[in-house]
Amino acid sequence: MRGDARSAWILISHGIAAYALIFLFLWKSQIILDAFQRKKRWTQARIAFFVLLLLLCLTMVLGLLWTMDGSLFIGRFSLVSLHIYTTVPVTLIDYMQYTRRNRGHR
Ligand code: HEM
Repeated sequence: MRGDARSAWILISHGIAAYALIFLFLWKSQIILDAFQRKKRWTQARIAFFVLLLLLCLTMVLGLLWTMDGSLFIGRFSLVSLHIYTTVPVTLIDYMQYTRRNRGHR
């Protein structure tokens, strides 16, 4: 990210969206847990959803750790780089789920 004031709005908007997502996540977590306990069968969609959930949690934890704990590294990778990398599969799985739903699969 560029450190100048003109691009600060990107980080501010990202921060607002990220915390809104965390709030939504905590708010809806009971529904997610209930759904997991109710249906025991591991369908393809369910596995994709579970992987997406894990990656999303990882993305949020890496972002939060980087912001709150300062410059942390795992090997040669900074947590913020890992944070950005994990958004790639999150976006791909999200897109797959979206197109799948639009084709009428559940
Ligand atoms: C699913 C998508 C994403 C989620 C849920 C997410 C979530 C978060 C969270 C919770 C934080 C810490 C809170 C804060 O901003 O202060 C954070 C920080 C950060 N994220 Fe993301 N993020 C996502 C995608 C991205 C992408 C695509 C980029 C860059 C291309 C990015 C770059 C950053 C940076 C640079 C920080 C550190 C901000 C700082 O130090 O002030 N994030 N993210």
